[in-house]
Amino acid sequence: MDKEATLTIGENSYPLHIVEGTESEKAIDISLLRKESKFITFDDGYGNTGSCESKVTFIDGDQGILRYRGYDIADLATRSNFLETSYLVMYGNLPTSAELDLFSERIAKFTQLPDEVVTAINSQPKNLHPMGVLAAGLHALGGAYPHLCTNDRKSDLESFDESAALIISTIRTIAATRHRFLLNEQVPEIDPTESYCKNFLTMMFAKESEPKEIPPSVTNALDLIFLLHADHEQNCSTSTCRMIASGGANPFASLAGGVSALWGPLHGGANMAVIKMLNQIHDAGDDGSRFIESAKQGKTRLMGFGHRVYRNYDPRAKILKAACDDALEALGVSSPILEIARRLEEEALKDSYFVERKLYPNVDFYSGIILQALGFPTDTFTVLFAIGRSPGWLAHWKEIAETGKKIHRPRQIYQGSPLRPYLPTGDR
Ligand code: ACO
Repeated sequence: MDKEATLTIGENSYPLHIVEGTESEKAIDISLLRKESKFITFDDGYGNTGSCESKVTFIDGDQGILRYRGYDIADLATRSNFLETSYLVMYGNLPTSAELDLFSERIAKFTQLPDEVVTAINSQPKNLHPMGVLAAGLHALGGAYPHLCTNDRKSDLESFDESAALIISTIRTIAATRHRFLLNEQVPEIDPTESYCKNFLTMMFAKESEPKEIPPSVTNALDLIFLLHADHEQNCSTSTCRMIASGGANPFASLAGGVSALWGPLHGGANMAVIKMLNQIHDAGDDGSRFIESAKQGKTRLMGFGHRVYRNYDPRAKILKAACDDALEALGVSSPILEIARRLEEEALKDSYFVERKLYPNVDFYSGIILQALGFPTDTFTVLFAIGRSPGWLAHWKEIAETGKKIHRPRQIYQGSPLRPYLPTGDR
């Protein structure tokens, strides 16, 4: 294939280098275009813009393929677990057993939060959403470990192993600390030798007065949700994280930015919005058809449907749909909204509106149903997404810190007022 494209503007031609990826994706490198021609490219919403070269995750949205570091998501979902996959995503290869032991020991070492971080979490306004608290908690965490949070790229990279383990471990504790605080309860002690998810469920829900064994099917369902969320290349929150990192900011600040970006209902907040939507449909006695009609008329959106990149079934949704039945059966929970979700999916997938626009269920369509069955309050669902995404954000922070040369800074086309003189108040 040609290694160059040519752009012709009027009488002038500009040769542009073609960049090719491992999986034959192609891009036209326009980085010198403005210097040579005075033109920039325009792509509102970045739908057709490659912002970087990355080695972390590959997605083929037309075919519904998702791979972390070359491993297919279905393979990892069946054979790996969240901590092993986190290592893979951040460090590039599956760990040897010695590497995995060391990583797990580091995670186990950092389960507790320093008192000043607990105080920061609990002093947030009562009505602040858990995602706001999480962002504040991450900033406070960095403040409690100043040697990991220097904004000196070389130093922050040298301490990456420690800060990554600290964040992946205590992001659970931040979530549980806030949840318990609102219930006027303390986070109970955990056994560091237990699994990541078992300890998180203990921190969130265990009651001394009613000790209960957590069945492995429950911890496995949560582990699967975290694993499926571990990375998803240049989405809104990861791009935010990379943008912040490109300015030289430390991992804690970069991840706090990622959390804020994830919060929105068109991104990670969709998992909450799906449950609200399904409950509304249930409460209205609708079989889903009225809701689908209003989505087609543009009055509402079918939450958990559609994706900027997938024009096919999101492979994560396929895995979660299957896991939903197993998890609910293991928990002995029957969910009327699962029935509604299945019916909505079935109706939408044969409706020309959704077919023509290639709108399929995304990862958020079924994850909320499992999280609800596990007992998580709806407004914590997006926090769980953030816990799962933390290794991905850290991997991208590391990639920028290791290879990034430039601060990220898009251009714009200014459409505002031309130059005008300042007028004193009386003359306006
Ligand atoms: N319900 C109904 N119509 C939809 C939906 C939906 N969920 N999603 C897209 N459409 C329609 C749009 O109205 C538009 O129709 P038009 O061409 O007639 O104007 C067309 O499909 C294209 O939609 P865009 O918004 O341009 O698609 P985009 O790629 O920008 O948006 C997004 C992707 C934001 C995910 C969108 O599909 C959406 O809002 N989905 C619902 C929210 C959601 O589930 N978000 C989670 C995404 S996954 C994640 O972030 C983890």
